[in-house]
Amino acid sequence: VKSLKEIDVTGKRVLIRVDFNVPMDNHFNISDDRRIKEALPTINYCIDHNACSITLVSHLGNPKNGYEDSFTLRHIQKRLERLLEKKVEFIDDFEASKAEISTCSLERVFLLENIRFHDGEKKNDAELSKKLADICDVYVNDAFGTSHRKHASTYGIAKYVENSVAGFLMMKEIAAFNKALEKPIRPIALVVGGAKISSKITLLSSVMPKIDKLIIGGAMSNTFLSAQGYDMQASLFEEEFVKTAKKVLEDAKVNGVKVYLPVDAVITDSIEHPVDVRVVPSQDVLEGFHAVDIGPATLKLFSEAIELSNTIIWNGPMGIYEIERFSKGTYKLASAIGDCYAYTIVGGGDTADAVEKAGEKDNFSFISTGGGASLELLEGKILPGFECLQRR
Ligand code: 3PG
Repeated sequence: VKSLKEIDVTGKRVLIRVDFNVPMDNHFNISDDRRIKEALPTINYCIDHNACSITLVSHLGNPKNGYEDSFTLRHIQKRLERLLEKKVEFIDDFEASKAEISTCSLERVFLLENIRFHDGEKKNDAELSKKLADICDVYVNDAFGTSHRKHASTYGIAKYVENSVAGFLMMKEIAAFNKALEKPIRPIALVVGGAKISSKITLLSSVMPKIDKLIIGGAMSNTFLSAQGYDMQASLFEEEFVKTAKKVLEDAKVNGVKVYLPVDAVITDSIEHPVDVRVVPSQDVLEGFHAVDIGPATLKLFSEAIELSNTIIWNGPMGIYEIERFSKGTYKLASAIGDCYAYTIVGGGDTADAVEKAGEKDNFSFISTGGGASLELLEGKILPGFECLQRR
């Protein structure tokens, strides 16, 4: 794969696919801007090398039917301007703005509206890919966090732009994972959690041959506990993946992977207005209650399992860590992993955010901007967003 440094961007219209899918609170305040910060070296390189124009393309969330207020990239514009120390022009309709993007006026930075508002993005539609290719001379994929998606702006476009290269963040991430995975120091522990159950759970069976321990917490574990016959009551879990969870547990057995599930949980009668919060054994979630964090016994169990590992990959929080009362499990686990003498990688926007808030950032070997993407790398897959550049 060619890196950005190997081509000349001077006077060229550069389109950079970034991953600005950042966590935000209910008022659209960005709670962790790591993904934006990590894209700056690539953007600044193009500015410093006098690109004709720089067009940034990203998605935000998962809009279902075109435009939705909560997913507009306008929420990102101000923070980007502040970090870049430069004006960023917002483009609602990139086709209508083609002439503007093509008019060479050095250092102009454009931010396109959420590319997932286009129906063709997730379908990897050739028309959309061509239209994007049409507004650039150089395509840079720096969206490591989205590179496991075969979408028009992460994959399809490369077919139509001869100069398609990897950005600095992409190169840095791939190198860090190669270091951990090419000659891994075993035992390897994979710690998974978080609420993106459907997209992660299906990957777990395929990573079995690569790992020695699988530690499952957060909303993800509710689906597994349910597979073991526990009634998780009002907790977040995905009924349709209970079968997949059972299969994951069987595959773990076949591959000799030891699985660790929560033995206790913090439960609450209400997430927004908790009145009754207590710790119970995992099998005893009270009627109508939500499991929102791992309990102290689980933390001890997980910490001991982690301590004896030489490579630890963590993806997904252990509970609703955004709410202080339910954040202990995630933060304490961050400290437990940070204390280990192991190669430690944390992946995914929320998890990286939690590690930072726990004050453990400097105790991890590598903090990745990719969640799902890092799991697919662990599986041994070549990410589509990287593979399309290799073909070039
Ligand atoms: C992520 O947050 O993992 C990436 O931005 C990809 O988002 P997606 O899971 O909605 O495709």
